[in-house]
Amino acid sequence: MNVHDSEKMLGVLSENGYSEAEGPENADLVIFNTCAIREKAEQKFYSQLGRTKLLKRGRKSLKIAVAGCVAQETKDKLIRRAPYVDFVIGPQNIHLISHMVTGRLQAGLFDDNQKLALQELAASRKSLIKAWVSIMYGCNNFCTYCIVPYTRGREVSRPSSSIISEVDDLAKRGYKEVTLLGQNVNSYKSDIDFPELLRKIDALKIDRIRFVTSHPRDFSEKLIEAIAELPHVCEHIHLPIQSGSDGILRLMNRGYTYREYLEKIDVLRKKIPAIAITADVITGFPGETAMDHEATMRAIREISFDGLFAFKFSARRGTKAYGMDGHIGDDLKSQRLSEILNLQEKITYKKNHVLEGTTQEVLIEGPSETDPSMLTGRTKTNKIVTISDNGETPGSYVVVRIDRARQHSLLGVNVSLDGVSAGS
Ligand code: 5AD
Ligand code: SF4
Repeated sequence: MNVHDSEKMLGVLSENGYSEAEGPENADLVIFNTCAIREKAEQKFYSQLGRTKLLKRGRKSLKIAVAGCVAQETKDKLIRRAPYVDFVIGPQNIHLISHMVTGRLQAGLFDDNQKLALQELAASRKSLIKAWVSIMYGCNNFCTYCIVPYTRGREVSRPSSSIISEVDDLAKRGYKEVTLLGQNVNSYKSDIDFPELLRKIDALKIDRIRFVTSHPRDFSEKLIEAIAELPHVCEHIHLPIQSGSDGILRLMNRGYTYREYLEKIDVLRKKIPAIAITADVITGFPGETAMDHEATMRAIREISFDGLFAFKFSARRGTKAYGMDGHIGDDLKSQRLSEILNLQEKITYKKNHVLEGTTQEVLIEGPSETDPSMLTGRTKTNKIVTISDNGETPGSYVVVRIDRARQHSLLGVNVSLDGVSAGS
């Protein structure tokens, strides 16, 4: 979400005659696009801001802007702590960023999702293959641990016509994949609902359609049907579970029980056997007992996710959970987190291992970050596949035989020329 917000800011600024600098050393303006979801992200921002302050000391003309959720959430503290910051802008006002640099706005922090949703922002995208497209802004869920509804405001959906024309334009420009973005895409509502939006996008000339994030409470059978039927919608779903304990789920205000979550997974797997399922989990929520933790471990074992993002609970001022009883020490949180990660590591490896010997259709994205002599791409199920670089062009599809499972990726060989069919 934040990366795409940065692309939009860059897009707005490009339209106003600005271009991206190579680094802060040769920039006239440095924008920090901040994340406040966990304390760690916020701390990281403050230490980087300190470094930029030194840069500004040597070059007075340098302007510093702080955008994103930290700007929105801690504006007063931020301005007090860092008076050298020139502009502050919240995530609901990214479209106003050019007003800021032309001196017409110092602090853009008011709640304005309605206007944001009506903007057609020409994002300046890094990739020529995959694109993010926002379909809605904000969130109404108020999970008790989460700062997002306070920083990103109430949920507002973009008109479907504007989303469809953005995706259509991307398809015409040769993009292969879109990821539809929203805090809770399943509650998308304009003249049509989310499954209907998927149907309309599926009819465009885009090969792969993904979406994040889905909320288990709003994850409907109608949506499962749409994923099953629509050829371009990828067989991967990110469905954050957060906890396997009903008591903790209730305290989190998630609106579902573990059983209900499991039932949705069962339907999904029955209707779409190839589906890959990933999730988020929070460990160490206030009041989480050893039994609650065990329930989460059991859930991870039972569901067998393809991948899992696990986080230690981070108390965010202003949220309900911040004031709850039973906050847990960091050592215990770390211990539970490593138990979760160790368990998931084994499951992920096992799942990847099953794919050895199969052939998969892979959309090539470009050189591997860890080894530039290799290329990486993804399967429709979002698994990362690495092959040796034999001149395959980014954006092309290759049929890959999986030879070896690794922890976070699959190693394979391009067998397209052998005439092997994809996706066995
Ligand atoms: N502490 C830890 N993790 C959090 N998340 C959201 N808020 C918090 C918090 N206060 C996690 C949730 C969510 C993901 C994007 O971040 O798991 O799904
Ligand atoms: Fe936060 Fe819950 Fe909204 Fe996700 S659904 S953004 S976790 S409040």
